[in-house]
Amino acid sequence: MDTRNIIRLDVTESTNSVALEAGQQGAPPGTVIVAAAQTGGRGRLNRFWLSLPGMGLYFSIIQRPRLALEQLPKVTLAAGLAVCKAVEKEYAVLPRIKWPNDLLLDGRKFGGILSETGSIYDIPAGKPPLVVIGVGVNLFQPAGGFSAELKERATALSLYTNKKISSEMLLEACVLTIEEELQRLENGEFPAILREWKVRDGIRDKMLTWVTPKGQKVTGVSLGPDADGILRIRDRAGTMHIVLSGDIDLVGKIPR
Ligand code: BTN
Repeated sequence: MDTRNIIRLDVTESTNSVALEAGQQGAPPGTVIVAAAQTGGRGRLNRFWLSLPGMGLYFSIIQRPRLALEQLPKVTLAAGLAVCKAVEKEYAVLPRIKWPNDLLLDGRKFGGILSETGSIYDIPAGKPPLVVIGVGVNLFQPAGGFSAELKERATALSLYTNKKISSEMLLEACVLTIEEELQRLENGEFPAILREWKVRDGIRDKMLTWVTPKGQKVTGVSLGPDADGILRIRDRAGTMHIVLSGDIDLVGKIPR
């Protein structure tokens, strides 16, 4: 890659943890931590991200975007779009995005984004907040295939492309597109980012259930993200719900 600061590890617990630590210690924006395997790779809602040696691309990039704290959720959408575009360009496939951060091929998840910030108490006055963008992409399926538990929900890029997969090339493409999309975000171009994101929306008009952070279950149709990138669901009674966090799941068969 270019002359950026890139830290390559054979194995680590989580590249996001390494990046958060490094960012807090002063590592410059643009620093990338990439690992061949993770023992405690994590996803949204603290889910485990299977990170077997050589089977996927697992990396985190340190950023300090010039954005107000309330704008930070948009970083996840911008990064998801960026990784989609990189995969499209390199491998001629058309991934879809399940709000906010799941990357899908054929209705199954092959990638995900986990954006995390340093402690808000650590932000020195006037300094942009530390944001770590973690990206996981299943390049290959594990020997013997995904486990029975994962099979219905997970997939790998190699199953959808005839092109030879190079994790190094994909890493470079992802890092460049993530930085491009972040630049657009900083420039106030979120409406344009959102337009491109919506073309790839994999759950628009689909029936889904949302478990609210308080554990209440809401069933309704996805109306897609609003102008701030927040998902809207309309339930059967016509009530609109704004999804700030929590888990969403498609009802019935996975759309292909
Ligand atoms: C999700 O699907 O909820 C997001 C998954 C993100 C996984 C990546 S792998 C590299 C980085 N390090 C982690 O611990 N998580 C992210």
